[in-house]
Amino acid sequence: MKADPFSPTPLPPYRLMPDLALALSSVRSQISGADPKIAVVLGSGLGGLSESLVESNRIPYSEIPGFPEATVTGHAGELILGRLDETPVILQNGRFHLYEGFDPAIVVLPVRLFAELGIEYLIVTNAAGGLNPMLRPPTLMLISDHVNFMWRNPLIGKQLDREHRWPNVSDLYDSELRDIASAVALHCGVSLAEGVYAGVLGPSFETPAEVKMLRQLGCDAVGMSTVPEVITARARGIKVLGISSITNAGSGLSSNPLSHGEVLDAGRELSGDLGFLVRGVVERLGIDG
Ligand code: HPA
Repeated sequence: MKADPFSPTPLPPYRLMPDLALALSSVRSQISGADPKIAVVLGSGLGGLSESLVESNRIPYSEIPGFPEATVTGHAGELILGRLDETPVILQNGRFHLYEGFDPAIVVLPVRLFAELGIEYLIVTNAAGGLNPMLRPPTLMLISDHVNFMWRNPLIGKQLDREHRWPNVSDLYDSELRDIASAVALHCGVSLAEGVYAGVLGPSFETPAEVKMLRQLGCDAVGMSTVPEVITARARGIKVLGISSITNAGSGLSSNPLSHGEVLDAGRELSGDLGFLVRGVVERLGIDG
């Protein structure tokens, strides 16, 4: 039958929105004891924190309906439920990136799942290149704000239940959580700078000219993740703390050619300090199960 050219084309359904309810019931059924209120996203090479969990229960992505396999070296593909010291937490060990070709709805699927589980705090970690010459890798940077150079927004599409359409993004990275992280860093003797994260699409690293441009635009570090997750968390009313492991100097700022291997090695080197920081923040939030 010929299509009637005068009838309005219906808006396509949000075709790539996976069934959150299915993922939710599969993960919820594995929670024993108190519900976690804190989720931690582990970035490239930063999976070491999972070793500190007790009473842990690993759920491979292959067992969660709608979750694809993580494809990037250095990113395992599992959620881990357990206790960090006394606090029940959920760790996301392996994230989905836009540069893998995933739709933004997949990239932020774990965050939407966390929101449905009742998570109140999201601690996001990532590996990033340093743009600010004061950031000498390997070192850690608290994210104070971001610039979205990914030209994608995870909230595009049908508005979902319990999700703000126009979330306030003037304080995406919660200032109280940043104060707590700075106090913990001081207490543990961990050096922690603070700066603006530029989120780019990747997967190629930036050119030296792009690194210069990002710096001139006021960014301190650059990476290929985090922005979609943080926007979504905010739209769900979750408070966010973001920490970048500055694994390398931005392209052209050092004589070494950049490689993913270098990023992973430096990420592992920083994972001890990052672990102290995350554990300290979780402890100070004082949510015992
Ligand atoms: N650029 C983008 N992403 C990164 C970098 C970088 O230099 N290092 C780690 N992730």
